[in-house]
Amino acid sequence: MTRTPVNVTVTGAAGQIGYALLFRIASGQLLGQDTPVRLKLLEIAPALKAAEGTAMELDDCAFPLLSGIDITDDPNVAFDGVNVALLVGARPRTKGMERGDLLEANGGIFKPQGEAINAHAADDVRVLVVGNPANTNALIAQSHAPDVPADRFTAMTRLDQNRAYTQLARKLGVTVNDIRKLVIWGNHSATQYPDLFHAEVNGKNAAEAVNDQAWIENDFIPTVAKRGAAIIEARGASSAASAANAAIDHIYDWVNGTPEGQWVSAGVVSDGSYGTPEGLITSFPVTSTGGKYEIVQGLEIDAFSRAKIDASNAELAEERDAVKALGLI
Ligand code: NAD
Ligand code: LMR
Repeated sequence: MTRTPVNVTVTGAAGQIGYALLFRIASGQLLGQDTPVRLKLLEIAPALKAAEGTAMELDDCAFPLLSGIDITDDPNVAFDGVNVALLVGARPRTKGMERGDLLEANGGIFKPQGEAINAHAADDVRVLVVGNPANTNALIAQSHAPDVPADRFTAMTRLDQNRAYTQLARKLGVTVNDIRKLVIWGNHSATQYPDLFHAEVNGKNAAEAVNDQAWIENDFIPTVAKRGAAIIEARGASSAASAANAAIDHIYDWVNGTPEGQWVSAGVVSDGSYGTPEGLITSFPVTSTGGKYEIVQGLEIDAFSRAKIDASNAELAEERDAVKALGLI
């Protein structure tokens, strides 16, 4: 392999998403089959041994594209020279924890990680935040990396998009390959808005193809928006393989570009498009060309969609105000 390896940092590497993600990265699915990778695993000290165990298994796969693995509990080491950063590790909500406590605990993780990215990352660094609350954690990290272009910080809503594809395909008796431009607006939370009004099914408008507003409002949107909770209920643990899969999709498309005529969903820094508060990291329809995600412009937003998008962004603005009040941004 003659190409210089791409440095990929995964935080929370010993967690369940980490376990589902690392082998796919090392096998070439994140960046492509001609790109060698060097993995940098960041964990907290008590989980370093488990991360070492995962690294042993990675060794035992003899992946041709895997040029090395570093394991550390120091963000300054983990983000040194990083090209792709997957911020997965986060503090889950535990019993008795208020929303403010959760935001504060995560601030303690994403502030130093943002600072370390600012100080040590490669010039082309791209960051995807998976750890919840993903959009606001991304905002915290981004606000502590003033030397990194803000558009390099993104939050994951691709899992929500993938969930929406399957729900729509089932409803219409088509396959996911027949669907295009089905995207998520807003927060990765129960207020998110999966948008059928701009989506297409075999070239036809998806909302028209469904022709059932009650199903859209009372079934499709809540099923997609509450799928994370339904998985937790069923599995006794939050989604892991599907989250890892979505992270792969998000980075692969960012680096390699989205197919002609296709849109995807990503939480990106708002430039004020569609009346969304500037500076929030919120999900939009985006395309990627030349390694850059750009917000799709010029879409007409009807009153139904407007209300849904505004409600989700209002929730994000509240989260932003809460972390501001805590001095985290
Ligand atoms: P997990 O608890 O199995 O693993 C999290 C790991 O992060 C643990 O190994 C923990 O030691 C580590 N960690 C904690 N603090 C850290 C720090 N400061 N630095 C480095 N590592 C640290 O959780 P999981 O199932 O892998 O999920 C990870 C996160 O992803 C959660 O916040 C979850 O809610 C979120 N998630 C997001 C989406 C999405 O679509 N955006 C989907 C699923 C899960
Ligand atoms: C998911 O969407 O599966 C995760 O964000 C888990 C959750 O808490 O909803």
